Amino acid sequence: MKAIQFAGPGGPEQIAEVDIPTPEPGAGQIAITVRYAGLNFAEVLARRGAPGYAPGWPYVPGMEVGGEVAALGAGVAGFEVGDQVVAFTVGGGGLAETVVTEAGLAARVPDKLELERAVAVPLTWTTAVALVQNTHITAADRVLVTGATGGVGDALAAVLSLRAPRSLVGATSPNSASVLADGYRRAVRDAGFAAAAREANDGELFDVVLESIGGDVAAASFGVLAPRGRFVSYGAAAGQPDPAAPSFGDLRRNNWTTSGFSISNLARGDAGAAGELIAAVFALVEGGLTLPAPRVVGWDQAIEAHIAQAEGRSPGKTVVAVRG
Ligand SMILES: NC(=O)c1ccc[n+]([C@@H]2O[C@H](COP(=O)([O-])OP(=O)(O)OC[C@H]3O[C@@H](n4cnc5c(N)ncnc54)[C@H](OP(=O)(O)O)[C@@H]3O)[C@@H](O)[C@H]2O)c1
Repeated sequence: MKAIQFAGPGGPEQIAEVDIPTPEPGAGQIAITVRYAGLNFAEVLARRGAPGYAPGWPYVPGMEVGGEVAALGAGVAGFEVGDQVVAFTVGGGGLAETVVTEAGLAARVPDKLELERAVAVPLTWTTAVALVQNTHITAADRVLVTGATGGVGDALAAVLSLRAPRSLVGATSPNSASVLADGYRRAVRDAGFAAAAREANDGELFDVVLESIGGDVAAASFGVLAPRGRFVSYGAAAGQPDPAAPSFGDLRRNNWTTSGFSISNLARGDAGAAGELIAAVFALVEGGLTLPAPRVVGWDQAIEAHIAQAEGRSPGKTVVAVRG
């Protein structure tokens, strides 16, 4: 079968289309005929060799897919061959004609939802829902999202709109290729980021910071966190070393809560918990949440779309039509 493969850690020279054997499901797994595969920043980090992303080399990227169940492994209940499903392919492999995943990380797609929209549910939308749930955001909160564009940024705007926070500020790089989703007030993420974020928030501090840039931006975020504030680190897109965390003394002085979130590490340790998040997103869709249509590119554009995402030229969520 055809697949996109990273030969090893490095630059775009590591990427190629290859022909590899079609995988067979083991016990507790299903094989999926892939129609669509979502592109995620995690694949950029994997290719660059960031620790914890690619489990080994060569690596076939693709962590969220939509398609039909092609085969069931031993002991799998709840699916039939031909079911239309999405899945969180946490070990990669989704940018291929067939992928194998743990059955617990797959879910049937609700009838009314188009597959090309649903494909971003298992990783992107679950992350947004988990971040909002874990920080218990209410209408009283002033919220800052430091990486507000792209797949997760767009999903956060939609999920947060259901909680109607008092304010929502989204940071973008000065020349971001993406359009900021409705609901965000914009703050430019440059050297003056903290001041810009606060200015966009009518001069006030933030009750919640959802942080995915890392390094200097993560450090600066504590300068705009209000007493009793909640801070979550869920990414490090800038590729800078993590800054020193606040001391226990700082936490006590400010009544701050700091935490981290990784949907991949959650899924690796507890597929059921990740599966519950997929179900939670579908429940929101059932209740009226609209998942925006992603940008769909054909298989021939998949490598270029991944490179564009790595270079910050990618406008929002991109999905590859693997058989298109
Ligand atoms: N912890 C989790 O469970 C989890 C799950 C999904 C994603 N994530 C993280 O969430 C972030 C967004 O992921 P995504 O898949 O939605 O990505 P995406 O659609 O490609 O969006 C990329 C985001 O990262 C920013 N960015 C890209 N390159 C950057 C760089 N070199 N320096 C600083 N910022 C950069 C972009 O900001 P501008 O547009 O403003 O330039 C944009 O906000 C990533 O950090 C990813 O690792 C975490």
